[in-house]
Amino acid sequence: MNTKIRKIDITNVDSSIIIEAANIIKHGGTVVFPTETVYGLGADALNEKASKKIYEAKGRPSDNPLIVHISDKRDLIKIVSHIPEVADMLMEKFWPGPLTLIFNKTKDVPKGTTGGLDTVAVRMPNHPVALELIKQSGTCIAAPSANISGKPSPTTGEHVIEDLDGRVDMIINSGSVGIGIESTILDVTCNPPMILRPGYVTVEMVKEIIGNVAIDNFQESDKPKAPGMKYRHYAPKADMVIYSGETSKVIEAINSIAKEKYEKGLKVGIIATEESQMLYKYGKVFSIGKRKSEKQIAKNLYAVLRAFDDMEVDIILSESFSEGDLGYAIMNRLVKASSNNIIKI
Ligand code: TXA
Ligand code: MG
Repeated sequence: MNTKIRKIDITNVDSSIIIEAANIIKHGGTVVFPTETVYGLGADALNEKASKKIYEAKGRPSDNPLIVHISDKRDLIKIVSHIPEVADMLMEKFWPGPLTLIFNKTKDVPKGTTGGLDTVAVRMPNHPVALELIKQSGTCIAAPSANISGKPSPTTGEHVIEDLDGRVDMIINSGSVGIGIESTILDVTCNPPMILRPGYVTVEMVKEIIGNVAIDNFQESDKPKAPGMKYRHYAPKADMVIYSGETSKVIEAINSIAKEKYEKGLKVGIIATEESQMLYKYGKVFSIGKRKSEKQIAKNLYAVLRAFDDMEVDIILSESFSEGDLGYAIMNRLVKASSNNIIKI
């Protein structure tokens, strides 16, 4: 397939590119577009054949449902059968933005979009290109992260091109996204509502609006409520180990393992922080940002994992980060990327 690649400047959006992309969506094709969290691989959510193309392009298991993106709350009437009061409060506070809500679906949403479920995940992205594309398409756009299934989510146009050039009809490249980690998923069909995937909107932020919130046992469970959480995910090609404990001891342990691997002739990658990067003596060291800046760490996380893929390292050794606020989502992704390979010091 010949993929059209278009560059767009988000401070001055070229409407002819949006119209071109919207026409592809209207005709049942696939378009990769930027959102504020990560790039999404979009198609018409109400057209089962179009949704199927998303699964094919990503190599995604068909039981893993897609998030439906809207540009206007009025679109909800088409796709959601009931809007609980808590959802209204959350939409008012966080939309457009990185919060996905799970609702009961209407008949108009094909099961091919929801992985066979009677519920539908919906979010309104906070990005001018995404919002304009949805509006001009005149439909709702189903879009998972625009990576090949299992790989880290794409946070730059280059990441997308590397994974999906030749597999989709069009890629809109607008450079780096702002947040870098996916939306929080909250199921509002149950009481209390339940977090199915931690994300940029933290548990504390949700609690502040609606009080009580449950958290799915996605870390340990074989049957997480968001089907996607069961798959190996966000994963670089190399084996990855996370060291957790007091930072100075973690650095010492990583240095010692890095030396051992290096002496065996292995290529080692180390995920460090701005403060610690100078303290490592072996391997290729990348800083993920300042230890205290969770926003920086979230933004750099997937790019660092992909950079190690490009360098073809054999093993990645990573520091761990605080689990508070946004740190909870960061550690969730790191732990998944390592397939739960954590060593406590
Ligand atoms: O920030 C984001 O959410 C990005 C951007 C592109 O919007 N999208 C994204 O989509 O991360 P994806 O497909 O990579 O992750 C969607 C997650 C999967 O774990 C899936 O199982 C879950 O949402 N999900 C979707 N619909 C669901 C439903 N009806 N019930 C439970 N989980 C659902
Ligand atoms: Mg994904």
